Amino acid sequence: MRRIQVKVDGATHEHEVEPRLLLVHYLREVLNLTGTVIGCNTSNCGACTVLMDGKSVKSCTMFTVQADGREITTVEGLAENGEWHPIQTAFHENHALQCGYCTPGMMIASVSLLEEHPDPSEEEIREALEGNYCRCTGYENIIKAVQQAAGQTDQSVAASQSDPPAAEGAVAQSGRGADGEERQGSDLGSAVAGGGERQRSSLGSAVAGGGRQMAPGGPGAGVAGMGRS
Ligand code: FES
Ligand code: FES
Repeated sequence: MRRIQVKVDGATHEHEVEPRLLLVHYLREVLNLTGTVIGCNTSNCGACTVLMDGKSVKSCTMFTVQADGREITTVEGLAENGEWHPIQTAFHENHALQCGYCTPGMMIASVSLLEEHPDPSEEEIREALEGNYCRCTGYENIIKAVQQAAGQTDQSVAASQSDPPAAEGAVAQSGRGADGEERQGSDLGSAVAGGGERQRSSLGSAVAGGGRQMAPGGPGAGVAGMGRS
């Protein structure tokens, strides 16, 4: 066992961990931060992406001991004082998610991109997110969301172009959680939030907590196989 100290979403933690413990398992199973999900466990899908000292890393690819002394930000640490991070608002307003499973990793990778390139071209956005797969193939709206978060599009235009009733209906119709229960609409915002206080509703729980049931051989495992199609 090795003793580590790591700051996660603003809180400092100290634990004895096995050297082989992956960071994603530490986050989910030791800290109970289930907003970070597991899609493949083989560094392919990006679902487990977190920030380490401000840079995006795939937490299934790192051992926890490698995070010793570092600062980690998960999707659950994006919102501040009850206010969504601009990338969360942009994903919500552009309906940049369907099942929401890739969303935590997509948003974290987007935050990392915008930190490095505050005004990226569409090509740069696509390139930055190519390590994150969306098995629902909702890439177009994800690009739009990143562009909005970068201030490249008018928020009010993006909001008016989205169609909340239809979007929520789509979620309700296809929104089965990891436990197979039918999910009802109005949960889009919770799915975007991906964790923390916003896990109150059904789809949010599917995103944030569903990984327990999904990982690693469940539906999330399909991300790696579907992502390039
Ligand atoms: S890349 Fe880490 S779970 Fe897929
Ligand atoms: S919304 Fe991306 S995997 Fe479903």
